[in-house]
Amino acid sequence: MEDVLRIRDLPARVGENVSLRAWVSQTRSSGKIAFVVLRDGTGYLQCVVPKNEVDEAVWEVAKGLTQETSVFATGAIRADDRSPGGVEMGLTGLVVIGTSTDFPITPKQHGTTFLFEQRHLWLRSKRQEAIMKVRHEVVQAIRDFFYERDFYLVDTPLLTAAIGEEAGSLFETEYFDLGKAYLAQTGQLYVEAAAAALGKVYCFGPTFRAEKSKTRRHLTEFWMVEPEVAWYDSDANMGLQEDFISYIVRRCLERRAAELAVLERDNAKLALVEPPFPRVSYTDAVARLQQEGQDIEWGKDLGAEEETIIATWHEKPVFVYNYPKEAKAFYMKRNPDDPRTVLNNDCLAPEGYGEIIGGSQREDDYGILLGRIREEGLPEDVYGWYLDLRKYGTFVHSGFGLGVERTVAWICGIPHVREAIAFPRQVHRLRP
Ligand code: 4AD
Ligand code: MG
Repeated sequence: MEDVLRIRDLPARVGENVSLRAWVSQTRSSGKIAFVVLRDGTGYLQCVVPKNEVDEAVWEVAKGLTQETSVFATGAIRADDRSPGGVEMGLTGLVVIGTSTDFPITPKQHGTTFLFEQRHLWLRSKRQEAIMKVRHEVVQAIRDFFYERDFYLVDTPLLTAAIGEEAGSLFETEYFDLGKAYLAQTGQLYVEAAAAALGKVYCFGPTFRAEKSKTRRHLTEFWMVEPEVAWYDSDANMGLQEDFISYIVRRCLERRAAELAVLERDNAKLALVEPPFPRVSYTDAVARLQQEGQDIEWGKDLGAEEETIIATWHEKPVFVYNYPKEAKAFYMKRNPDDPRTVLNNDCLAPEGYGEIIGGSQREDDYGILLGRIREEGLPEDVYGWYLDLRKYGTFVHSGFGLGVERTVAWICGIPHVREAIAFPRQVHRLRP
């Protein structure tokens, strides 16, 4: 098969006769002229079919086309200012490749449940296409950011023996003669080992949480990128995060303006996302929340509601740092200035999107870390290798995890993370 011509490339082909393969998005016809809009993932192309000027066979095919039929179309490309890509096609040849009868997703309104049942077909709609392209840009920006800064990519296992975050939300499976294996909640413990080998590293892949949460921020399978940096303290860690998030947002503004326009995103809000980001300690945040009449006690993790309020204090993403150690994972470094707290931070996105990053400096003291593992009742033998990192040349190090779906949802301005991934996995959703 010769290389296919794509709709995006057509403005350079004005005056030429070309052929392409695509799907029918819309059709409209009177007795004398038919309009067929084709789509191929790179754009939309209006084709014009005047009955008197084309073969009768072409007219018959064009007249009978239905939504999502796949076709091989031939015609002349001409400039047309009113068309989205600036060109249209005068159709002269039309062959149906695959018919499509009663495509379930029509231009009328459909309910969300129905649309998610039809997710495999819903992906073809304009809005979903825009979201997928923004996600694609976010992922590429993530890889470029780390590549440009000399971070090494280290792929970490998805089948693990150790609990990374929280015992309560593990998917488990039998693993031959070795007992239980868990789907990874994080690659962090492994990138810590890799950071001692390579200095600056990151892992990037799917992670799993068997959380029963049915909120608009939770999936059971989501993608997380986790850098880990030798010799970075918590402060430097936040500096890296603000550079990173700003880079991703800037890239989307530069290269995905068309998609953000389809999504009717207010780009002015995104344009504010530049370093430095405001920083507020957990303790100060709780005090201010209390002053504002919120019912929150020092010691509890912040919930979605509190995060939303804190985010309204600023127009940029905001760091909340040094949480109470009880509210956070066992591996975070104890704060020497206030041992009730740890040297960590969350980064909260504006506009009510909540936590998009969790990060921390890691406990680098063998004895303290062992104590924390015991306090949490974690199986010591499984963490032997992790403790080794504190035994053989321990080092100050920090890292964080950014959730891709929450970031995409925020940049796209869509209300729910489930649209930010092609095939979401949620408590009540495993198909398609
Ligand atoms: O705060 P979390 O649990 O942090 C970690 O897993 C650390 N090990 C990261 C690290 O320091 N290397 O998760 C990090 C981010 C959250 O801020 C959020 O964006 C996303 O992962 N996330 C989820 N996204 C969708 N659905 C869920 N159930 C999520 N849980 C966390
Ligand atoms: Mg977190």
